[in-house]
Amino acid sequence: NKLGEYMPGLEGVPATRSNISYIDGKQGILEYRGISIDELCKHSSFLETAFLLIFGNLPTEDELKEFDHDVLHRRRIKYRIRDMIKSFPDNGHPMDALQTCVSAMGLFYPIATPKDLKSPDYIRDVTLRLLAKIPTMVATFHMMRQGNDPVLPRDDLSYAANFLYMLNGEEPDLFMAKIFDICLLLHGEHTVNASTFCALVTASTLSDPFSVLAAAIGTLSGPLHGGANEQVMVMLEEIGSAENVEAYLEGKLTRKEKIMGFGHRVYKVKDPRAIILQGLARELFDKYGHDPYYEVALRLEEVALEKLAHRNIYPNVDFYSGLVYKKLGIPVDLFTPIFAIARVTGWLAHWKEQLVDNRLFRPTQVYTGKRDIRYMPIADRT
Ligand code: CMC
Repeated sequence: NKLGEYMPGLEGVPATRSNISYIDGKQGILEYRGISIDELCKHSSFLETAFLLIFGNLPTEDELKEFDHDVLHRRRIKYRIRDMIKSFPDNGHPMDALQTCVSAMGLFYPIATPKDLKSPDYIRDVTLRLLAKIPTMVATFHMMRQGNDPVLPRDDLSYAANFLYMLNGEEPDLFMAKIFDICLLLHGEHTVNASTFCALVTASTLSDPFSVLAAAIGTLSGPLHGGANEQVMVMLEEIGSAENVEAYLEGKLTRKEKIMGFGHRVYKVKDPRAIILQGLARELFDKYGHDPYYEVALRLEEVALEKLAHRNIYPNVDFYSGLVYKKLGIPVDLFTPIFAIARVTGWLAHWKEQLVDNRLFRPTQVYTGKRDIRYMPIADRT
């Protein structure tokens, strides 16, 4: 595209220079700090990968121990935030609850001066707080909306296991916790997607990191972005069984409606995260029993490929994640907050990177309105 040319959705327009993650959309490759996600899923953990993304390198054993420990000891939330959550409507969406809680954190942990934003101690502190408390806030809202007391975090449980535990007070088995940890890792970062771009814009005004994340959470919640994982599950339930797939898809495409969980601005092949998530779903079904909606998903992928593959529209990350979360016993409206719990790492990494050589985002527009119109007094308007 030529400089100055309007590109709807900024398609193909570089908005930043970054060394955090890399995507090859034609080959289906995703790397965090140069390491492929396949490698990370095999060998790393969510918290280790969070450290990698935010601080730029894999931690040493001692650094990781300290990081784990420091996150663990910040998991509890202030009683005033818990009381605030108690006053939320039970039927409010958990993404709205999360956005409000993160925004409220800015009241409790204000920055002293804009200079703080670049201080390594401040960055570390805020990183630990956000990583530690966001899962607790999501779980607290979930418990309280059912009229229950929140389940306090348990220091002897891993990051992933503790979140699942806080959702219902039952300790998950190690296998489930491991699968969930990989899901978080897979959703950690993804270049300049809509919510990360929103985070960059907010960061560029030197707002505090709670505002940066609250803005990003709002952006993630839409059905074209993170909200798609919830919509995929709703769609699979609506279809009901594999034999209904063809008619459902035909209807959608005739009405020119999008199939949730399909298509991507960057990937022109099946999303590498969808491939890994599908594998995780299969592992869960082998161990804990089948989910009939998996058949629906498989048939949907098959029929959609016949109809959409020639236009490079394939399953994205959101297509199989919901089936995994469902098998882990997670309610459908928590799927997108889980995406947010994970993506905090990418948002923070980009916030930190933006501040290194910050320049305010202030693009231009192509004006399409009128000019030189005279003000008409209200009595003369018809
Ligand atoms: N189902 C049917 N048609 C589609 C789909 C789909 N899922 N995705 C794109 N198309 C068609 C679209 O209708 C358009 O057709 P035409 O040229 O005839 O108007 C063409 O492909 C280009 O679509 P677009 O929306 O302009 O392309 P985009 O690059 O903006 O699309 C997208 C990216 C993710 C917004 C889109 O694929 C979509 O809406 N998918 C469904 C929602 C979804 O699954 N979102 C999750 C994205 S991945 C993870 C995340 O970001 O959270």
